[in-house]
Amino acid sequence: MESIRHRIEKLRNELNRHNHNYYVLNNPTISDIEFDTMMKELEALERDHPEFDDPLSPTRRVGSDLAAKGFEQELHEHPMLSLGNTYSVGEVDDFVRHCREALPGEEVAIVGELKFDGTSISLLYENGRLVRAITRGDGVRGDIVTDNVKTIRSIPLLLQGSGWPDRFEIRGEIVLPWKAFERLNAERAFNEEPLFANPRNAASGTLKMQNSAEVARRGLDACLYYLIGDNLPFGNHFDNMMAARSWGFKISDAMTLLHSTAEVDAFISHWDTARRELPVATDGLVFKVNSLRQQLNLGFTAKSPRWAIAYKFPAERALTRLRSVSFEVGRSGIITPVANLEPVLLSGTVVKRASLHNQDIMESLDIHDNDMLYVEKGGEIIPKITGVDLKSRTPDSLPVRFRPDCPSCGTTLQRIPGEAAWICPNKYRCTPQITGRVEHFVGRRMMNIDGIGEETVGDLFNAGLIKNAADLYSLSVNDLMSLPGFGQRSAERILQGLDESRKVGFERVIYALSIPFVGETVAKKLARATRSIDNLMSLSAEALEQIDDIGPRIAASITAFFAEQTNREMIERLRSHGLQMEMPPEDESSRSDRLAGKSIVISGTFTHHSRDQYKEMIERNGGKNVGSISKKTDYILAGDNMGPAKLEKATKLGIPIIDEDTFLSMIS
Ligand code: IVH
Repeated sequence: MESIRHRIEKLRNELNRHNHNYYVLNNPTISDIEFDTMMKELEALERDHPEFDDPLSPTRRVGSDLAAKGFEQELHEHPMLSLGNTYSVGEVDDFVRHCREALPGEEVAIVGELKFDGTSISLLYENGRLVRAITRGDGVRGDIVTDNVKTIRSIPLLLQGSGWPDRFEIRGEIVLPWKAFERLNAERAFNEEPLFANPRNAASGTLKMQNSAEVARRGLDACLYYLIGDNLPFGNHFDNMMAARSWGFKISDAMTLLHSTAEVDAFISHWDTARRELPVATDGLVFKVNSLRQQLNLGFTAKSPRWAIAYKFPAERALTRLRSVSFEVGRSGIITPVANLEPVLLSGTVVKRASLHNQDIMESLDIHDNDMLYVEKGGEIIPKITGVDLKSRTPDSLPVRFRPDCPSCGTTLQRIPGEAAWICPNKYRCTPQITGRVEHFVGRRMMNIDGIGEETVGDLFNAGLIKNAADLYSLSVNDLMSLPGFGQRSAERILQGLDESRKVGFERVIYALSIPFVGETVAKKLARATRSIDNLMSLSAEALEQIDDIGPRIAASITAFFAEQTNREMIERLRSHGLQMEMPPEDESSRSDRLAGKSIVISGTFTHHSRDQYKEMIERNGGKNVGSISKKTDYILAGDNMGPAKLEKATKLGIPIIDEDTFLSMIS
């Protein structure tokens, strides 16, 4: 028994050390396979010996699928203040001079740091163990997000080295590195989910998720920059941060001791451009007085310390003329105002349009016809209108108003209670809503019907052949051949695509229905929890809210959707056309761990089963289906037409490529 405990401890220590090498030092010293093997051994020992459980074990970094409904809150022991900020180098120099004047006759060293653009976090350690993580909240009280923070592998759960105080707080920024941000947004674009405007929003949204397994998957990182406690090892900030680095925290290499305004200015001009090469988003620099005694002397204002200042990088901005504001109708009827601009070059791309989001945002900008508008991108993927150049406004130009009626069908708009959005309530007669829902239905992640795109849906609707998705299944070759540009073959291809869509799983059918607020993930949860459309349709809002991640807003939207006769009729017709309206029965005999720990990429097209079925088979046999090839991939399950780039990468990394038959024999 004792030897098992020792083995567990040894594995935990080793895995912690390798996590630190990999995630903090960027310098792995063992292969992924060796790491995975140790992790598996530890998992097995912990499973067999729950008496040696430790919530800080490295096995707990994967998060949990269990949704914690809402976060508990906690008061900060020291309020989380903000920083005074400036866009001017001269004002940073003034700050340094003021500090010197307030500390006559003393040397004042300044620490220059990056200002990370994420969401701030406070971590509490006791006896070398992470005990609590709290968000900034309102600065006085924040949400306890310990479970999510534990999934961030660069945050040590147990400290290394020595000299840490028994109890201390360390603060920093949770960030989503550019690469992870781009990957997340690419996935969201693919799923037709709204994109995150910048890594900051993505990081704070992710940190507040209920599902820590999803948090773990997204790849957050943490940069720490402030230590608070009674027995800190040194009397100055810089040495304390270097000590924190030796305890296992990720402390930026950019942190530099500066001794004069000339050095401060050089630090600014260096990072003004060098920041573009950084793997994480930054929105400026922070300058702090180094000595803790001097910090104490300088003190705080109500809002921020007098011993620190933030220098903000100027956002990339362009000025261009407004051509018009158009109002666009989405498939859910929500009206989005969009500014159409004279094309202008901004951070390397031409910007012609920028969303004004909703009435509140649009009116707070107070845009007039023909205005010259400032467009910004500063780290943002989606350009944003940030202001109006009032000097160039012509005196007679009129303010742009949100329109009261639907731009497509003229119906009077309604405001969604408690929200900024206006919607067109004419769901079943307003063209862009109808065609939008059908376009969504046929999309790749939904019913994946080949050959039908936006244009064909529009043509089918204009020809009076469809009013909703169920009508697609009544189309004949002749109907399709009556459309512009359609011949026998293209018509038959669509009918074949429709036929194949009858096999698409129930989860995707739910997603395809365009129930407001039901995206891909929610659809999956609903399908797994209810197992059939009849069950789903029979549930009350209260019963729906018992399902993971379903809150009152989604529950109300689902019951409202099924209460509509039109929707119920459409579902019955889809059912009569043979679509999957329930989950297949669970077949326990098809489960195994033959692929345990294997990462498998699926590529190409298959003959025996669909890609989704292969994905399911991988998961049922203990493996993991991953989207892109890396050195961690174990196999590539390749069908016909595997992409040449994938093939090249797989060959280069020496990853075995297996075909359908080999795969099926591996799991049988
Ligand atoms: S120091 C009492 N250092 O910027 C001083 N903050 O605008 C505590 N931030 O709330 C903050 N990088 O979320 C500090 N190197 C850095 C920072 C930094 C980013 C954030 C932090 C803070 C905000 C203030």
